[in-house]
Amino acid sequence: MHVQHGRNTLLVIKCTDGREYLFKQGNGNELESEALVYAEVGSATFILPPIYVDQKLDVIVQPFLRNASTLELIARDSAKFVVGSLEQLAKSLIDSAIQLPITDRQLRFLIPAHVPILDRTTIDRSNAFFQVLNFVQSSPCLSVIFDTADLRMTEAHCDLKLDNVVLDNTSLFLLDWELYSKAPLGWDIASCVGSMLIACSRQSKIAEETAPHLRSVFQVGRSLLDYLNAHLVSRGQKTISVPEFSHLVGRYLFERIASEACFKHYLGPMDMVLLDIARHVTERTLECNE
Ligand SMILES: Nc1ncnc2c1ncn2[C@@H]1O[C@H](COP(=O)(O)OP(=O)(O)O)[C@@H](O)[C@H]1O
Ligand SMILES: [Mg+2]
Repeated sequence: MHVQHGRNTLLVIKCTDGREYLFKQGNGNELESEALVYAEVGSATFILPPIYVDQKLDVIVQPFLRNASTLELIARDSAKFVVGSLEQLAKSLIDSAIQLPITDRQLRFLIPAHVPILDRTTIDRSNAFFQVLNFVQSSPCLSVIFDTADLRMTEAHCDLKLDNVVLDNTSLFLLDWELYSKAPLGWDIASCVGSMLIACSRQSKIAEETAPHLRSVFQVGRSLLDYLNAHLVSRGQKTISVPEFSHLVGRYLFERIASEACFKHYLGPMDMVLLDIARHVTERTLECNE
């Protein structure tokens, strides 16, 4: 049995017959209850079905996929493979159009809607976080994207990142549903595209190496947006424009960089490359031909 205590408690339980299960208990915050979500989710291919759910204790038990690998790990060897996997996941998310009746949750952004709003005296965060905030504040055109007042909101996974997607043999699973909540329409798909950009930038040793990868991710991003828009049209809904979607991708990247900055208390050279990519995506949209 292996125990991990972080925000949540994770235990791997091995039965005498050799089967292994993962036991996960939430941190007691009702608005982040994963059991509540798993009690409602259907049977989409990317859901790893739990064998037991206890909403009161906020506990889920799932098969433990011992040989599975996260996309975070796979990205170290092949960013290209990760791009393909995330494209597949994004399409499955669009097709399945999961909408659970959890209306009281809303995605909380780390970077505030109207900058400047925070300073060091009002919030206790690391210098690295303030470096990210300063980066956003220093570009007036960037600060515009943080106003979500006009965005259409819909339910989304909201924690789509490389270490929450695992590949088990040929099956891809999206784990960690505790932050499922209302977010801007297209947020999960933009998160997939942002995660592709992260995978590509981390694999490269120098900034120039990322350029060819970025071009191909922009193409994948545009085709995913077309796929999403076709789905919206078929449901009689208004489509998302390229600049709107690009802003979501950029915003996702800024949120991820800010979140890691809080955790690591440090911005490395690759974070600086990512900040530039985030600015590029946000200001100039998903351009393919440059
Ligand atoms: N059923 C599972 N089988 C194998 N590995 C898993 C399983 N569930 C989670 N993991 C691994 O444990 C990590 C943490 O699980 P996750 O549900 O994301 O919890 P947390 O909320 O702590 O991030 C994942 O990134 C993944 O590597
Ligand atoms: Mg996780």
